Amino acid sequence: MSAVPLASPVEAYFEVANRCNSKCATCPLTFDPQERAHNLTFEEFVKLVEQLPHLKRAVMHGIGEPLLNRDLPSMVRHLKQRDVYVLFNSNAALLTDARQRALIDCGLDEFRVSIDGSTPETYIKVRGIAAFELVIANVAAMVHLKRELGETNPRISFWVTGMRENLPELPGVIELAARIGVDEVYLQRMVFSNIGLAVEEQSIFRGYREEAERIIAEAETLADRLGVTFRGSGAPTLPQMATRCPAVSPRSPASRTATSSWATTSRTACQPRGRASATSSFEIGCTAPSRTTPAEIVGWAGACSAAPS
Ligand SMILES: C[S@@+](CC[C@H](N)C(=O)[O-])C[C@H]1O[C@@H](n2cnc3c(N)ncnc32)[C@H](O)[C@@H]1O
Ligand code: SF4
Repeated sequence: MSAVPLASPVEAYFEVANRCNSKCATCPLTFDPQERAHNLTFEEFVKLVEQLPHLKRAVMHGIGEPLLNRDLPSMVRHLKQRDVYVLFNSNAALLTDARQRALIDCGLDEFRVSIDGSTPETYIKVRGIAAFELVIANVAAMVHLKRELGETNPRISFWVTGMRENLPELPGVIELAARIGVDEVYLQRMVFSNIGLAVEEQSIFRGYREEAERIIAEAETLADRLGVTFRGSGAPTLPQMATRCPAVSPRSPASRTATSSWATTSRTACQPRGRASATSSFEIGCTAPSRTTPAEIVGWAGACSAAPS
């Protein structure tokens, strides 16, 4: 099916920062930061939002750490005034008490913590920095703060990019979530680019499928018992996470989700027909879905955050 421009997107990804305080072995940013370092400014952001009159859902990350952008809470507030559902993924290493309060206060709907393991050893192998205990302490503190303030939002969840290195710790992540009061755990597909740990040999299908399905089933049983919601992102069912994951280039426009628009900090915006081009004015284009099921959205942004919510 060929892509047809939509009148105006209902979903957008905003890469509010394109640098990171982490060094994940799965992330292209760790090995090859291709773009000039830039945080989206509030003014730039407002210009983008003005072009999206029908926006209903906004994801505030691209490739980089959103908490590095000090204007993030103001951006979220701006979207909430327009009744947009707002979420983002974060490594949560910079989730200080002040940031926790700001994120609760601005009305953020979902805060997704990329955890990728249940032990400091796996965390450092996959995420590249020795921050496991810090991240767990930060997230536990935010759960506590939400309770203290009587707030239900943002929903806080753990995210695991599934690969052979960390899949055996999936049940451990569910236990950890239950222990510190995180209600939801998501498994997302690893997109392999053949750099770092993002290599085909790490994938949880082909030669590992049976083991992956066994671990996922164990995690599902445990989640049921502990009252933790456990879902797959971008696949209709959890077992399907282990069946396929095509290789795509994270920076290719075709690998971005095809159902929404996206804007990067380096002034690239998704244009009609899914082609990316540099713009000086942060104009946004959009594409109609060229694929039909969530399972078939295999791109970088899709794999990151396309979980139905
Ligand atoms: C690129 S990060 C940006 C947001 C934030 N820095 C973070 O890590 O959560 C978005 C998501 O992509 C995940 N990710 C990293 N490498 C990946 C890969 N090769 N395939 C799929 N997802 C990946 C991260 O774990 C994170 O959940
Ligand atoms: S996955 Fe996120 S935290 Fe890790 S290096 Fe990439 S942008 Fe940073």
